[in-house]
Amino acid sequence: MSFPKATEMAHELVAKRIRKRSCVVDATAGNGHDTVFLAERVGPTGKVFAFDIQEAAIEATRVRLEEAGHATQATLKMESHEHLGAHLPKRHHGHVQAIMFNLGYLPGGDKSVTTRWDSTMAALRTSLELISDSGIITVTAYPGHREGGEEANAIVQFGRWLDPREYRVLQYHFLNLTNDPPFLVAIERAPE
Ligand SMILES: C[S@@+](CC[C@H](N)C(=O)[O-])C[C@H]1O[C@@H](n2cnc3c(N)ncnc32)[C@H](O)[C@@H]1O
Repeated sequence: MSFPKATEMAHELVAKRIRKRSCVVDATAGNGHDTVFLAERVGPTGKVFAFDIQEAAIEATRVRLEEAGHATQATLKMESHEHLGAHLPKRHHGHVQAIMFNLGYLPGGDKSVTTRWDSTMAALRTSLELISDSGIITVTAYPGHREGGEEANAIVQFGRWLDPREYRVLQYHFLNLTNDPPFLVAIERAPE
């Protein structure tokens, strides 16, 4: 038995918030692991919107969804997540149960194409408006490389300065591992 990795903890937290029929977002589809996880949980009556800027990622996600038999409930968008609001039908605004960000570059792909702190911040600001009262945003950040370090710092600052009367923010971070391991930030609406 050992502590879950940041990505595993993100799944644990999200799994508690979503059910069949939920509307959810994968803001960084990548190789499709998180999209398939979400699609399995929400079932064919739910809805997953998955975003990525790379054709290779959208294609890998499409194949993985089809292999898992969950393609019908997913809509894949080759768009930057900073345009999340514009690409999500209005009826879902304020009703999204989970928005997952798994930052960085496409594993096995072009390492120079990575998430960037400015577009990630824009997407997070929009995400705050999109989640339901019981919704959750998860962000797995990778401070171990240069671009990732800057982005990870921006996320911590973003979370720290959110009004606690409106949102609650937690950080899940291994304190004593070397090489700046990935960490998780999760955001929920504050209870009334
Ligand atoms: C670590 S991977 C995601 C892993 C994925 N969630 C999975 O389960 O396989 C990060 C992804 O973010 C994508 N990305 C980079 N900038 C983006 C942006 N502005 N909007 C959406 N996706 C972006 C990259 O192309 C890459 O595929």
